[in-house]
Amino acid sequence: MSAPTEHRPLHGKVALVTGASRGIGKAIAVRLAASGAKLACIATEAERARETASLCSALTEGAQAYGCEVGDTKKVAELVEQVQKELGGLDILVNNAGITRDQLLMRMSEDDFDRVIAVNLKGAWNFLKAASRPLMKSKGRVINISSVVGVMGNAGQANYAASKAGLIGLTKAVAKELAGRGVCVNVVAPGFVTTDMTAALDEAARSKLVESIPLGRLGGPEDIAAAVEFLAGPGGAYITGQTLVVDGGMCI
Ligand SMILES: NC(=O)c1ccc[n+]([C@@H]2O[C@H](COP(=O)([O-])OP(=O)(O)OC[C@H]3O[C@@H](n4cnc5c(N)ncnc54)[C@H](O)[C@@H]3O)[C@@H](O)[C@H]2O)c1
Repeated sequence: MSAPTEHRPLHGKVALVTGASRGIGKAIAVRLAASGAKLACIATEAERARETASLCSALTEGAQAYGCEVGDTKKVAELVEQVQKELGGLDILVNNAGITRDQLLMRMSEDDFDRVIAVNLKGAWNFLKAASRPLMKSKGRVINISSVVGVMGNAGQANYAASKAGLIGLTKAVAKELAGRGVCVNVVAPGFVTTDMTAALDEAARSKLVESIPLGRLGGPEDIAAAVEFLAGPGGAYITGQTLVVDGGMCI
């Protein structure tokens, strides 16, 4: 049985989460659903987001899985229309889909650079552009998932760092543009989080990483989801253009 409405601050809101098939995006979708929001769970193919959508359905009134390549401007515009029709509007946009193609600059191919920018940065721009009108109508919220790597840089990730730093600039510009219409646009910048993206780290690299984190552990997807829920909810009403770093103190 779902919790009473007073404990579900996002009741009646519609949230769209990209990259919702696994990891951080899945945790965000489930957390927002537990807070009462209807969920549009986006992955490259709808089938991949089906499990997340069904977890959300058990917690809230409406949840759908949709397939969409976030770098495809036309498809994104069509999808945003479809979500509004099927779920009844749009209040919260979470640009979470992201990829890595790590390589030292000297060896990085043009394709590796372009692909990471296309998904991580242009993908978010595509959704922001398509969703800005409905978000102005709902006085909605946008949360863009960047990374501490976009704040600090990281050897071997010139493409990824550029895309994630770009997201912070994009957020600040759009926050200024949409503030007059009551839309808050912020960044959550995770540190290292245990997901498929970080699964490739060997034990030695993982231990070294943990040593650099004052709180002494990698983050979990739920740590990031909690920050997103805060910014999407009543507590985030007077915060815009900011980067909330969720990294166990790594960046201090
Ligand atoms: N895991 C970490 O340590 C960490 C740290 C900082 C930031 N982040 C960021 O958090 C976000 C989620 O990371 P994660 O670790 O859960 O990653 P993940 O690889 O586990 O999941 C990524 C999600 O994005 C989707 N996706 C990828 N390319 C897509 C595309 N072109 N179109 C649509 N969907 C696409 C995938 O299907 C998947 O659902 C990413 O933006 C990542 O850069 C992760």
